[in-house]
Amino acid sequence: MAEARKPLISGNWKMHHNHFEALQTVQKLSYLLDSEDHDAVDVSVHPPFTDLRTVQTAIETDRMEIILGAQHCHWEEKGAFTGEVAPPMLAKLNVAYVIVGHSERRELFGETDDQVNRKVKAVLAQAMTPILCVGETLEEREAGRTEDKVAGQVRAGLAGVSAEAVAGMVVAYEPIWAIGTGRTASAADAQAVCALVRSTVGELAGAEAAGAVRAQYGGSVKPANAAELMAEADIDGALVGGASLDPEDFAAIVRYRRAS
Ligand code: PGA
Repeated sequence: MAEARKPLISGNWKMHHNHFEALQTVQKLSYLLDSEDHDAVDVSVHPPFTDLRTVQTAIETDRMEIILGAQHCHWEEKGAFTGEVAPPMLAKLNVAYVIVGHSERRELFGETDDQVNRKVKAVLAQAMTPILCVGETLEEREAGRTEDKVAGQVRAGLAGVSAEAVAGMVVAYEPIWAIGTGRTASAADAQAVCALVRSTVGELAGAEAAGAVRAQYGGSVKPANAAELMAEADIDGALVGGASLDPEDFAAIVRYRRAS
């Protein structure tokens, strides 16, 4: 039997919050959460690059249990890549989780499956954990291609990654039509695709990795729908955009178990 998977709820701040705002946000979030919350759920925040050092210092100085994450990175360790940030630079800031292949990176900045795979490996090489994002467009869903798209992205993203490494990873299922739209996948639909993510991981890396990998759902997660999504067997957490900018809302999502 696989051990119970501890949920991971991650706040993806995207291109919001300068470093002062980031500091206030993480301080307020930390104040709102207690040790019971942290025992039950891993909580990560993913500020913009310019905020990372500030948030790291706050977390370490105040011994917050919030985990530091990044939104993106390059796959090379260093080099002539103007504007990019290398995985070892993130590791040096004690970043633990790196979002890889977010649909905004794929759709707006042309990130390919091959690049996403290189980034997954580069993040793992620095002993950080990738949050590999996958998900279909509305057009693909309506054409009945959700399974093909998601399984294909999981296979491509994890190609050549050891079963042991896959077991420690996070895969975020984020239907593109649900991101920032206020339209959430139904809990049943999100569960079905997260189960598909897990079975695809099983084909690639074996039953043990499939039982251990954490599957997040992302796309308009809010305090009002978090509990229902989190109740599903194969949903082990949430990747939250808009609602993570407000510490009250994000804390309410983290505390989904306490919602009445
Ligand atoms: P949203 O974003 O919660 O604002 O829909 C989710 C994401 O893109 O990670």
